[in-house]
Amino acid sequence: MANRITKAVIPAAGLGTRFLPATKAMPKEMLPVVDKPAIQYVVEEAVEAGLTDVLMITGRNKSALENHFDRVGELEAVLERKGDIDRLRKVNESTRLAEMHYTRQGDPLGLGHAVLRAKMHVGREPFAVLLGDDLIDERDELLSRMLEVQGERDASVVALLEVEPSQTHLYGIATVEPTGDDDVVRVTGLVEKPAPGEQPSNFAVIGRYVLRPEVFEVLEHTQPGKGGEIQLTDALQVLAAESERAGGVYGVVFRGRRYDTGDRLDYIKAIIQLAADRDDLGPELRPWLASFVETLD
Ligand code: UTP
Repeated sequence: MANRITKAVIPAAGLGTRFLPATKAMPKEMLPVVDKPAIQYVVEEAVEAGLTDVLMITGRNKSALENHFDRVGELEAVLERKGDIDRLRKVNESTRLAEMHYTRQGDPLGLGHAVLRAKMHVGREPFAVLLGDDLIDERDELLSRMLEVQGERDASVVALLEVEPSQTHLYGIATVEPTGDDDVVRVTGLVEKPAPGEQPSNFAVIGRYVLRPEVFEVLEHTQPGKGGEIQLTDALQVLAAESERAGGVYGVVFRGRRYDTGDRLDYIKAIIQLAADRDDLGPELRPWLASFVETLD
């Protein structure tokens, strides 16, 4: 089915408390992963999946995000004068990716509240949501498969990753039923960050969603939940429970590589893994890493 979805919403207004003090004056989505800010990978992923209109939900410190996707005349002129075409291309790459729009969340009242800020821009169409601190390896397919499943089932679609039972308290966790497709499940329930031992499964919701616009009406009535925040998971739980209302919720089970750059340890792992695989850095980094590992206990 042709992909009729063109809009991506990227919430990037969280406080990033796990990364303080680095995120005191800068959104965590601007932290570099090798040599690009995390947010650029996410916008590139949206564009790669055919989404051309990106709405970023920003908070305090929004200028760094806007500036990154804008042109910088002086810098371009200096690089041009020096004939540094390679760096000039890198600087310009982020400015031509998509049609970028920005709106502010005001108070960071939760992910659900951030997504609700997109209502006017999105209108009555299904749309994608990509979280700026979740990176999906570009070699592994996820968003385009989710868009396909949304088209086939006319439902909302979440991305699910099987995690260790010791990790389920960190995520929204889904109760699921199989479908005829090996990588697609029907989501019958969702719970945000269940207490250890109370998780209904090991299927964790990760930061990619393709949603029907009915989610906005649900979000308008969603009360603060876990952590006192308006949770997207709680709104999706309503859509999952009332499947006749907006087609229900399906999950695409992702078995590829995903990096949570909002978490310090995962952020370090992401940089090492991505840099080790790169043609320009890998050949020197890999042998250094191997000898470094030998020095460890
Ligand atoms: P997180 O749960 O990672 O929260 O948000 P956070 O505040 O950014 O980070 P920590 O936990 O304090 O370190 C998941 C995503 O939702 C966005 C964040 O920017 C992130 O991409 N978000 C969260 C908002 O846009 N607004 C909010 O009110 C909360």
